[in-house]
Amino acid sequence: MNCEILHTLYIKSNGEVLCNDDFGERILLGRVSSETTAASLDELLNNEAYGHIRSSLAAGRVPWEGVCEECAFLRSEEPFADPLAEKRLSKLQLEPSLLCNLDCRCCSNDLQITTREQPHLMEPATYEAVLSALRNRGYRLDSVEYCGQGEPLMHPRFAEFVQLTKRYYPQAWQRLITNGNVSYERTVGAAPLDEVMVAGDGLYQESYAQYRVKGRVEKVLRFMGDGVAAKERGRPLVIWKYILFEFNDSKEELLAAQERARELGVDTLVFVVTHSQYHSQRYTMESIASLPIVQANVTTNAHPSFFDGVLYGSPQRSLIAGLGEKLRRRWQARIDEVMIMPGELLQLRGWAAAETEIALIRLYAGDAYLGETLPTDLRPDVEAVYPRFRHQPLGFRFSAQLEGVVEKISLTLHLYDHQQEEIGRLSAPFVFALEQGAAPD
Ligand SMILES: C[S@@+](CC[C@H](N)C(=O)[O-])C[C@H]1O[C@@H](n2cnc3c(N)ncnc32)[C@H](O)[C@@H]1O
Ligand code: SF4
Ligand code: SF4
Repeated sequence: MNCEILHTLYIKSNGEVLCNDDFGERILLGRVSSETTAASLDELLNNEAYGHIRSSLAAGRVPWEGVCEECAFLRSEEPFADPLAEKRLSKLQLEPSLLCNLDCRCCSNDLQITTREQPHLMEPATYEAVLSALRNRGYRLDSVEYCGQGEPLMHPRFAEFVQLTKRYYPQAWQRLITNGNVSYERTVGAAPLDEVMVAGDGLYQESYAQYRVKGRVEKVLRFMGDGVAAKERGRPLVIWKYILFEFNDSKEELLAAQERARELGVDTLVFVVTHSQYHSQRYTMESIASLPIVQANVTTNAHPSFFDGVLYGSPQRSLIAGLGEKLRRRWQARIDEVMIMPGELLQLRGWAAAETEIALIRLYAGDAYLGETLPTDLRPDVEAVYPRFRHQPLGFRFSAQLEGVVEKISLTLHLYDHQQEEIGRLSAPFVFALEQGAAPD
């Protein structure tokens, strides 16, 4: 049993150190303040609550019964690991502000505003004390994420937090998660962020505001455009995060959002499957592969809670034949990613290209037929390497229900043209593990 809390430190605006930023928020692990020292931080990270988390997970038990089972940080199938004990933090999550300008329908923000102790805007001095203590004790810190249960950009001194991180941990990746209903210039300005993830759950005001109550979608779009314009040496990356609700999942709106993402020049548009109330019925984990994608920088993802127990597939041998054969071949294909989600749902992503158009792809696991799909995603990256294969779309995605637990699987793709003639066949054995292995060749 494992949990991400042993490499993540989550600090609320009032200095409380809690379990994760959703269900785990009811568990208090300690407190920091502007008085925090290297010694008091060490004490906190080794206190009774952390000791209880460590001993429970190591013994294969959830630390907080009735809470952990619902928490997105739990990795019930993973072996126990304790990077924190080795002074390695992959993420420090900071809530600069619990205040928010919106009233989203499933968010705990309004409840927290009435129940959480002040301050609801974090003191920069508290954050500096924590950074200084971590550095003093030799902690490695890979990333800082500005998020929580409020809107980070409601903090009038937001940019100072980014500057502080840069001063103490210049290598740390800095990500802001925001609703983007503010002026980019007045809030982020020239702060040296690496990534800005903007919640834009819809392209049209009528659909967007059904979840993002009080929000204005034109402000979100302007914010993203200004973020792109503010880039210096490629940073920050601007990511449009579009959660799929029942109000914003029409094919027309999804395609129009992709077109707008292209016009704005955002780095990625990601459509996210959620498990919350009002979630899209049309696109769930089982059917996400059918979401129409017409641009190379558009992708799909899921709320972290879906990833408890995911098995990642690694190819046991090279997927593409030697160079000579590669040059002669009238087709090429590759499986980029294979995952088995809990419930034995196989998810696969890849591309297939040929001199003639590929009309159909059939997938087999061993001798068992799993189903068929079509290339649906544009892959200019593939076209750039194989300019003779121009029949976009070249990318495909696939979901299939497996029967029972598998550790190894031999996958075969059969590619067909419009006359139902087989063009080519790609076979590869995969082994599955809880951690992501080496990418395919
Ligand atoms: C509570 S918000 C705080 C940051 C910021 N105010 C925002 O909304 O992006 C943290 C994250 O929760 C996500 N979120 C909000 N409602 C959600 C829902 N119903 N399902 C999944 N994620 C949700 C947001 O998109 C954001 O990435
Ligand atoms: S799974 Fe349990 S221990 Fe881990 S963050 Fe969530 S509540 Fe805390
Ligand atoms: S903008 Fe973010 S913090 Fe504010 S209510 Fe919506 S989800 Fe919650």
